[in-house]
Amino acid sequence: MTPLQEHKMLAKNNHDEDSRQSFVNDFRVHLSSNVFPGNFPAYYKRVLPQFLKNEKREPKNSNEIRKVMNKDPFYSFWSAMQRNSQEMIWSSVIDTVERQLDDLITKSKIEKPNGSLTLNPNLDIPKYNTAADIHLQPGAYHQQQVDNDVSAGAVYDKGTYIYSMGGLGTGNNAMGQITHGFFKSEFPKKEISKVLDMGCTIGGSVTYWAQKNPNVEFHAIDLGASVLRYGHARAEALGAEVHFSQQNAEKTNFDSESFDLVMSHILLHETSTSALQNIFDESFRLLKPGGIMMHLDLPQAHGVAPLESFLFEWEIYNNNEHFYGQLRKMDLVELCIKAGFNKDNIKPSSAGNFWMEEQTPYSSDDFVFPITLCIK
Ligand SMILES: C[S@@+](CC[C@H](N)C(=O)[O-])C[C@H]1O[C@@H](n2cnc3c(N)ncnc32)[C@H](O)[C@@H]1O
Repeated sequence: MTPLQEHKMLAKNNHDEDSRQSFVNDFRVHLSSNVFPGNFPAYYKRVLPQFLKNEKREPKNSNEIRKVMNKDPFYSFWSAMQRNSQEMIWSSVIDTVERQLDDLITKSKIEKPNGSLTLNPNLDIPKYNTAADIHLQPGAYHQQQVDNDVSAGAVYDKGTYIYSMGGLGTGNNAMGQITHGFFKSEFPKKEISKVLDMGCTIGGSVTYWAQKNPNVEFHAIDLGASVLRYGHARAEALGAEVHFSQQNAEKTNFDSESFDLVMSHILLHETSTSALQNIFDESFRLLKPGGIMMHLDLPQAHGVAPLESFLFEWEIYNNNEHFYGQLRKMDLVELCIKAGFNKDNIKPSSAGNFWMEEQTPYSSDDFVFPITLCIK
Protein backbone atom coordinates (compact mmCIF):
# COMPACT_ATOMS: atom_id res chain seq x y z
CA MET A 1 0.00 0.00 0.00
CA THR A 2 1.51 3.36 -1.04
CA PRO A 3 1.62 5.54 2.08
CA LEU A 4 -0.35 8.77 2.34
CA GLN A 5 1.58 11.93 1.58
CA GLU A 6 3.32 13.04 4.79
CA HIS A 7 2.25 16.27 6.45
CA LYS A 8 2.62 17.64 9.93
CA MET A 9 -0.89 16.66 11.07
CA LEU A 10 -0.88 13.08 9.80
CA ALA A 11 -0.84 10.67 12.76
CA LYS A 12 2.23 8.45 12.52
CA ASN A 13 1.94 4.66 12.51
CA ASN A 14 4.11 2.37 14.54
CA HIS A 15 5.18 -0.93 12.99
CA ASP A 16 2.12 -2.93 14.09
CA GLU A 17 -0.34 -0.21 13.08
CA ASP A 18 1.27 -0.01 9.67
CA SER A 19 0.86 -3.70 9.23
CA ARG A 20 -2.76 -3.73 10.44
CA GLN A 21 -3.75 -0.90 8.12
CA SER A 22 -2.04 -2.56 5.16
CA PHE A 23 -3.89 -5.76 5.97
CA VAL A 24 -7.27 -4.00 6.03
CA ASN A 25 -6.49 -2.26 2.75
CA ASP A 26 -5.41 -5.53 1.09
CA PHE A 27 -8.40 -7.37 2.53
CA ARG A 28 -10.72 -4.79 0.97
CA VAL A 29 -8.90 -5.01 -2.37
CA HIS A 30 -9.26 -8.81 -2.21
CA LEU A 31 -12.96 -8.54 -1.36
CA SER A 32 -13.74 -6.18 -4.20
CA SER A 33 -11.53 -7.84 -6.83
CA ASN A 34 -11.95 -11.54 -6.03
CA VAL A 35 -15.00 -12.06 -3.82
CA PHE A 36 -17.52 -9.40 -4.94
CA PRO A 37 -17.69 -10.70 -8.56
CA GLY A 38 -19.12 -13.96 -7.18
CA ASN A 39 -22.38 -12.08 -6.60
CA PHE A 40 -23.10 -12.23 -10.34
CA PRO A 41 -23.15 -16.04 -10.69
CA ALA A 42 -24.98 -16.23 -7.33
CA TYR A 43 -27.70 -14.07 -8.84
CA TYR A 44 -27.86 -15.45 -12.36
CA LYS A 45 -27.40 -19.13 -11.53
CA ARG A 46 -29.33 -19.42 -8.27
CA VAL A 47 -31.37 -16.41 -7.17
CA LEU A 48 -32.87 -15.28 -10.49
CA PRO A 49 -33.96 -18.76 -11.66
CA GLN A 50 -35.72 -19.28 -8.32
CA PHE A 51 -37.39 -15.86 -8.60
CA LEU A 52 -38.56 -16.61 -12.15
CA LYS A 53 -39.94 -19.95 -11.03
CA ASN A 54 -41.84 -18.42 -8.12
CA GLU A 55 -43.02 -15.14 -9.66
CA LYS A 56 -43.15 -15.99 -13.41
CA ARG A 57 -41.46 -12.64 -14.15
CA GLU A 58 -38.18 -10.73 -13.77
CA PRO A 59 -37.59 -8.63 -10.62
CA LYS A 60 -38.92 -5.11 -11.21
CA ASN A 61 -36.38 -3.16 -9.20
CA SER A 62 -33.44 -3.25 -6.79
CA ASN A 63 -35.73 -3.64 -3.75
CA GLU A 64 -37.15 -6.88 -5.11
CA ILE A 65 -33.64 -8.14 -5.78
CA ARG A 66 -32.52 -7.17 -2.26
CA LYS A 67 -35.27 -9.26 -0.67
CA VAL A 68 -34.13 -12.43 -2.40
CA MET A 69 -30.37 -11.78 -2.47
CA ASN A 70 -30.31 -11.11 1.29
CA LYS A 71 -31.18 -14.78 1.73
CA ASP A 72 -28.47 -16.06 -0.61
CA PRO A 73 -25.51 -17.60 1.29
CA PHE A 74 -22.82 -16.22 -1.02
CA TYR A 75 -24.20 -12.68 -0.99
CA SER A 76 -24.63 -12.84 2.80
CA PHE A 77 -21.02 -13.99 3.15
CA TRP A 78 -19.63 -11.21 0.94
CA SER A 79 -21.83 -8.59 2.61
CA ALA A 80 -20.78 -9.65 6.13
CA MET A 81 -17.10 -9.57 5.12
CA GLN A 82 -17.54 -6.16 3.48
CA ARG A 83 -19.23 -4.76 6.57
CA ASN A 84 -16.53 -6.26 8.76
CA SER A 85 -13.79 -4.73 6.63
CA GLN A 86 -15.48 -1.34 6.98
CA GLU A 87 -15.45 -1.63 10.77
CA MET A 88 -11.81 -2.77 10.63
CA ILE A 89 -10.81 0.41 8.80
CA TRP A 90 -11.70 2.55 11.79
CA SER A 91 -10.39 0.20 14.44
CA SER A 92 -7.07 0.06 12.60
CA VAL A 93 -6.58 3.84 12.69
CA ILE A 94 -8.29 4.95 15.91
CA ASP A 95 -5.53 3.61 18.18
CA THR A 96 -2.92 5.42 16.12
CA VAL A 97 -4.76 8.71 16.54
CA GLU A 98 -5.60 8.25 20.22
CA ARG A 99 -1.99 7.43 21.04
CA GLN A 100 -0.82 10.85 19.79
CA LEU A 101 -3.97 12.94 20.21
CA ASP A 102 -2.46 15.45 22.66
CA ASP A 103 0.39 16.09 20.26
CA LEU A 104 -1.99 16.50 17.31
CA ILE A 105 -4.10 18.99 19.26
CA THR A 106 -0.98 21.00 20.09
CA LYS A 107 0.12 20.95 16.44
CA SER A 108 -3.33 22.08 15.29
CA LYS A 109 -2.97 25.41 17.11
CA ILE A 110 -1.25 27.63 14.60
CA GLU A 111 -0.01 31.02 15.71
CA LYS A 112 0.12 32.92 12.46
CA PRO A 113 -1.89 30.98 9.90
CA ASN A 114 -2.21 32.06 6.29
CA GLY A 115 -5.83 30.96 6.25
CA SER A 116 -8.23 30.96 9.20
CA LEU A 117 -10.55 28.88 11.36
CA THR A 118 -13.86 30.15 12.77
CA LEU A 119 -15.88 27.77 14.93
CA ASN A 120 -19.44 28.21 16.17
CA PRO A 121 -20.14 26.09 19.27
CA ASN A 122 -23.79 27.20 19.13
CA LEU A 123 -24.43 25.90 15.62
CA ASP A 124 -27.45 23.60 15.44
CA ILE A 125 -26.17 20.38 13.88
CA PRO A 126 -28.90 18.79 11.73
CA LYS A 127 -30.03 15.32 12.69
CA TYR A 128 -29.04 13.84 9.33
CA ASN A 129 -25.43 14.49 10.34
CA THR A 130 -25.60 13.00 13.82
CA ALA A 131 -28.34 10.34 13.87
CA ALA A 132 -26.02 7.59 12.65
CA ASP A 133 -22.28 7.09 12.32
CA ILE A 134 -21.93 7.69 8.60
CA HIS A 135 -19.60 5.10 6.97
CA LEU A 136 -19.52 3.44 10.42
CA GLN A 137 -16.78 5.82 11.58
CA PRO A 138 -17.38 5.88 15.35
CA GLY A 139 -18.69 9.36 16.21
CA ALA A 140 -18.57 10.23 12.50
CA TYR A 141 -17.83 13.89 11.72
CA HIS A 142 -19.31 15.52 14.78
CA GLN A 143 -17.74 13.66 17.70
CA GLN A 144 -15.82 15.75 20.27
CA GLN A 145 -14.47 13.90 23.28
CA VAL A 146 -11.91 16.39 24.56
CA ASP A 147 -11.39 20.14 24.31
CA ASN A 148 -10.04 21.22 20.92
CA ASP A 149 -10.55 17.68 19.63
CA VAL A 150 -9.12 16.92 16.19
CA SER A 151 -9.57 13.15 16.35
CA ALA A 152 -12.56 12.89 13.95
CA GLY A 153 -10.45 14.67 11.33
CA ALA A 154 -7.28 12.68 12.03
CA VAL A 155 -9.18 9.37 11.88
CA TYR A 156 -11.00 10.44 8.71
CA ASP A 157 -7.74 11.36 6.95
CA LYS A 158 -6.15 7.95 7.47
CA GLY A 159 -9.41 5.96 7.35
CA THR A 160 -10.82 7.28 4.08
CA TYR A 161 -7.55 6.45 2.33
CA ILE A 162 -8.07 2.80 3.29
CA TYR A 163 -11.84 3.06 2.66
CA SER A 164 -11.10 4.11 -0.94
CA MET A 165 -8.26 1.54 -1.19
CA GLY A 166 -5.97 4.40 -2.16
CA GLY A 167 -8.42 5.66 -4.80
CA LEU A 168 -8.44 9.14 -3.28
CA GLY A 169 -4.75 9.44 -4.14
CA THR A 170 -1.84 9.83 -1.75
CA GLY A 171 -2.93 13.45 -1.12
CA ASN A 172 -6.50 12.32 -0.33
CA ASN A 173 -7.54 14.85 -2.94
CA ALA A 174 -8.77 12.90 -5.99
CA MET A 175 -12.21 14.53 -5.97
CA GLY A 176 -10.62 17.99 -5.88
CA GLN A 177 -8.39 16.96 -8.77
CA ILE A 178 -11.43 15.80 -10.72
CA THR A 179 -13.48 18.97 -10.18
CA HIS A 180 -10.43 21.15 -10.82
CA GLY A 181 -9.56 19.37 -14.07
CA PHE A 182 -13.22 19.39 -15.12
CA PHE A 183 -13.73 23.08 -14.27
CA LYS A 184 -10.59 24.20 -16.13
CA SER A 185 -11.63 22.25 -19.18
CA GLU A 186 -15.28 23.36 -19.08
CA PHE A 187 -14.60 27.04 -18.30
CA PRO A 188 -11.05 27.73 -19.57
CA LYS A 189 -11.56 31.50 -19.62
CA LYS A 190 -13.54 31.91 -16.40
CA GLU A 191 -11.81 34.22 -13.92
CA ILE A 192 -12.43 33.31 -10.30
CA SER A 193 -11.49 35.33 -7.26
CA LYS A 194 -13.62 33.82 -4.47
CA VAL A 195 -14.68 30.18 -4.07
CA LEU A 196 -16.74 28.29 -1.48
CA ASP A 197 -16.47 24.55 -0.82
CA MET A 198 -19.46 23.19 1.12
CA GLY A 199 -19.15 20.09 3.34
CA CYS A 200 -15.35 20.21 3.16
CA THR A 201 -14.63 17.72 6.03
CA ILE A 202 -10.81 17.90 6.33
CA GLY A 203 -10.54 19.99 3.18
CA GLY A 204 -9.08 17.25 0.97
CA SER A 205 -10.58 18.80 -2.16
CA VAL A 206 -10.50 22.51 -1.40
CA THR A 207 -6.88 22.36 -0.23
CA TYR A 208 -5.90 20.97 -3.62
CA TRP A 209 -7.76 23.83 -5.34
CA ALA A 210 -6.03 26.36 -3.06
CA GLN A 211 -2.61 24.87 -3.81
CA LYS A 212 -3.29 25.23 -7.52
CA ASN A 213 -4.76 28.74 -7.30
CA PRO A 214 -2.81 30.70 -4.68
CA ASN A 215 -4.31 34.05 -5.75
CA VAL A 216 -7.92 32.97 -5.22
CA GLU A 217 -9.73 33.40 -1.86
CA PHE A 218 -11.00 29.99 -0.71
CA HIS A 219 -13.67 29.43 1.95
CA ALA A 220 -14.63 26.00 3.22
CA ILE A 221 -17.49 25.09 5.55
CA ASP A 222 -18.59 22.03 7.47
CA LEU A 223 -20.78 21.19 10.47
CA GLY A 224 -18.07 19.35 12.43
CA ALA A 225 -15.65 21.31 14.64
CA SER A 226 -13.12 18.50 14.90
CA VAL A 227 -12.81 17.92 11.16
CA LEU A 228 -12.48 21.68 10.63
CA ARG A 229 -9.72 22.08 13.23
CA TYR A 230 -7.83 19.24 11.62
CA GLY A 231 -8.56 20.47 8.08
CA HIS A 232 -7.32 23.96 8.91
CA ALA A 233 -4.05 22.67 10.37
CA ARG A 234 -3.65 20.20 7.49
CA ALA A 235 -4.13 22.96 4.89
CA GLU A 236 -1.57 25.14 6.67
CA ALA A 237 0.85 22.19 6.82
CA LEU A 238 0.42 21.74 3.06
CA GLY A 239 1.02 25.45 2.42
CA ALA A 240 -2.53 26.23 1.28
CA GLU A 241 -4.50 29.32 2.31
CA VAL A 242 -8.10 28.37 3.11
CA HIS A 243 -10.64 30.05 5.40
CA PHE A 244 -12.50 27.32 7.26
CA SER A 245 -15.70 28.00 9.19
CA GLN A 246 -18.28 25.93 11.01
CA GLN A 247 -21.51 26.60 9.16
CA ASN A 248 -24.54 24.82 7.79
CA ALA A 249 -24.50 24.87 3.98
CA GLU A 250 -28.29 25.26 4.07
CA LYS A 251 -27.92 28.79 5.46
CA THR A 252 -24.54 30.49 5.73
CA ASN A 253 -23.47 33.92 6.96
CA PHE A 254 -21.75 34.92 3.70
CA ASP A 255 -23.02 37.92 1.72
CA SER A 256 -25.31 37.35 -1.25
CA GLU A 257 -23.64 37.42 -4.67
CA SER A 258 -20.16 37.16 -3.17
CA PHE A 259 -18.74 33.99 -4.80
CA ASP A 260 -17.67 33.10 -8.34
CA LEU A 261 -17.89 29.38 -7.66
CA VAL A 262 -19.81 27.37 -5.06
CA MET A 263 -18.91 23.69 -5.07
CA SER A 264 -19.10 20.51 -3.03
CA HIS A 265 -17.61 17.04 -3.16
CA ILE A 266 -19.90 14.17 -2.08
CA LEU A 267 -21.81 16.37 0.39
CA LEU A 268 -25.30 16.04 -1.12
CA HIS A 269 -25.87 12.32 -0.49
CA GLU A 270 -25.26 12.84 3.24
CA THR A 271 -28.00 15.44 3.75
CA SER A 272 -31.81 15.21 3.43
CA THR A 273 -34.56 16.00 0.92
CA SER A 274 -35.28 19.44 2.39
CA ALA A 275 -31.59 20.18 3.04
CA LEU A 276 -30.74 19.47 -0.58
CA GLN A 277 -33.17 22.12 -1.83
CA ASN A 278 -31.90 24.54 0.82
CA ILE A 279 -28.29 23.93 -0.28
CA PHE A 280 -29.14 24.66 -3.91
CA ASP A 281 -31.12 27.78 -2.84
CA GLU A 282 -28.16 28.94 -0.74
CA SER A 283 -25.69 28.26 -3.56
CA PHE A 284 -27.84 30.40 -5.87
CA ARG A 285 -28.00 33.22 -3.31
CA LEU A 286 -24.23 33.21 -2.77
CA LEU A 287 -23.27 33.30 -6.45
CA LYS A 288 -22.46 36.47 -8.33
CA PRO A 289 -24.34 36.77 -11.64
CA GLY A 290 -22.47 34.49 -14.04
CA GLY A 291 -21.14 32.47 -11.10
CA ILE A 292 -21.03 28.69 -11.19
CA MET A 293 -22.53 26.02 -8.93
CA MET A 294 -20.75 22.67 -9.16
CA HIS A 295 -21.81 19.84 -6.84
CA LEU A 296 -20.08 16.50 -7.43
CA ASP A 297 -21.78 13.45 -5.92
CA LEU A 298 -22.40 9.74 -6.18
CA PRO A 299 -24.28 8.21 -9.14
CA GLN A 300 -28.07 8.30 -9.35
CA ALA A 301 -30.28 5.36 -10.23
CA HIS A 302 -31.85 6.76 -13.44
CA GLY A 303 -31.35 4.26 -16.25
CA VAL A 304 -29.30 1.82 -14.13
CA ALA A 305 -30.23 -1.89 -14.34
CA PRO A 306 -31.88 -3.28 -11.14
CA LEU A 307 -29.01 -5.68 -10.29
CA GLU A 308 -26.34 -2.98 -10.63
CA SER A 309 -28.51 -0.61 -8.58
CA PHE A 310 -28.98 -3.23 -5.90
CA LEU A 311 -25.22 -3.85 -5.62
CA PHE A 312 -24.45 -0.13 -5.59
CA GLU A 313 -27.05 0.42 -2.88
CA TRP A 314 -25.21 -1.85 -0.43
CA GLU A 315 -23.78 1.31 1.15
CA ILE A 316 -27.25 2.61 2.01
CA TYR A 317 -28.32 -0.44 3.96
CA ASN A 318 -24.99 -1.52 5.45
CA ASN A 319 -22.80 1.54 5.74
CA ASN A 320 -25.14 4.20 7.18
CA GLU A 321 -25.56 6.17 3.97
CA HIS A 322 -29.23 6.67 4.76
CA PHE A 323 -30.14 9.54 2.46
CA TYR A 324 -28.30 8.23 -0.59
CA GLY A 325 -31.32 6.05 -1.49
CA GLN A 326 -33.50 9.15 -1.83
CA LEU A 327 -30.87 11.09 -3.71
CA ARG A 328 -30.56 8.28 -6.25
CA LYS A 329 -34.18 8.82 -7.30
CA MET A 330 -34.42 12.62 -7.17
CA ASP A 331 -34.70 15.03 -10.09
CA LEU A 332 -31.81 17.42 -9.40
CA VAL A 333 -32.57 19.61 -12.41
CA GLU A 334 -35.97 20.36 -10.94
CA LEU A 335 -34.34 21.41 -7.65
CA CYS A 336 -31.94 23.71 -9.53
CA ILE A 337 -34.87 25.37 -11.29
CA LYS A 338 -36.66 25.83 -7.96
CA ALA A 339 -33.46 27.40 -6.57
CA GLY A 340 -33.66 30.06 -9.29
CA PHE A 341 -31.34 28.80 -12.05
CA ASN A 342 -32.52 29.27 -15.61
CA LYS A 343 -33.32 25.94 -17.29
CA ASP A 344 -30.91 26.70 -20.14
CA ASN A 345 -28.05 27.24 -17.70
CA ILE A 346 -28.36 23.86 -15.98
CA LYS A 347 -25.89 21.35 -17.44
CA PRO A 348 -25.90 17.99 -15.65
CA SER A 349 -22.42 16.61 -16.33
CA SER A 350 -20.07 13.93 -15.17
CA ALA A 351 -16.36 13.66 -14.55
CA GLY A 352 -14.20 10.69 -13.80
CA ASN A 353 -10.71 9.83 -12.77
CA PHE A 354 -9.53 10.65 -16.28
CA TRP A 355 -9.78 14.33 -15.24
CA MET A 356 -7.20 13.84 -12.52
CA GLU A 357 -4.19 16.02 -12.85
CA GLU A 358 -1.88 13.87 -10.76
CA GLN A 359 -1.21 10.17 -10.53
CA THR A 360 -3.33 7.91 -8.34
CA PRO A 361 -3.67 4.13 -8.41
CA TYR A 362 -6.75 4.57 -10.60
CA SER A 363 -5.64 6.49 -13.63
CA SER A 364 -8.43 5.69 -16.10
CA ASP A 365 -12.18 6.14 -15.95
CA ASP A 366 -12.79 3.58 -13.20
CA PHE A 367 -15.32 5.77 -11.48
CA VAL A 368 -17.47 8.53 -12.91
CA PHE A 369 -19.09 11.10 -10.65
CA PRO A 370 -22.16 13.04 -11.75
CA ILE A 371 -21.85 16.79 -11.36
CA THR A 372 -24.79 19.14 -10.89
CA LEU A 373 -23.54 22.13 -12.83
CA CYS A 374 -25.41 25.44 -13.15
CA ILE A 375 -24.50 28.93 -14.23
CA LYS A 376 -26.33 31.82 -12.53
C1 LIG B 1 -18.33 12.75 2.52
S1 LIG B 1 -17.91 14.15 3.41
C2 LIG B 1 -17.27 15.25 2.17
C3 LIG B 1 -15.83 15.05 1.75
C4 LIG B 1 -15.10 16.31 1.38
N1 LIG B 1 -15.94 17.24 0.66
C5 LIG B 1 -13.82 16.08 0.61
O1 LIG B 1 -13.63 16.73 -0.41
O2 LIG B 1 -13.00 15.28 1.03
C6 LIG B 1 -19.44 15.00 3.77
C7 LIG B 1 -19.23 16.18 4.69
O3 LIG B 1 -20.36 17.04 4.58
C8 LIG B 1 -20.60 17.60 5.85
N2 LIG B 1 -21.98 18.11 5.87
C9 LIG B 1 -23.13 17.40 5.82
N3 LIG B 1 -24.19 18.23 5.83
C10 LIG B 1 -23.70 19.50 5.87
C11 LIG B 1 -24.30 20.78 5.90
N4 LIG B 1 -25.61 20.95 5.89
N5 LIG B 1 -23.48 21.84 5.95
C12 LIG B 1 -22.14 21.72 5.97
N6 LIG B 1 -21.52 20.52 5.93
C13 LIG B 1 -22.29 19.42 5.90
C14 LIG B 1 -20.34 16.47 6.81
O4 LIG B 1 -20.11 16.94 8.12
C15 LIG B 1 -19.11 15.82 6.17
O5 LIG B 1 -17.94 16.37 6.69
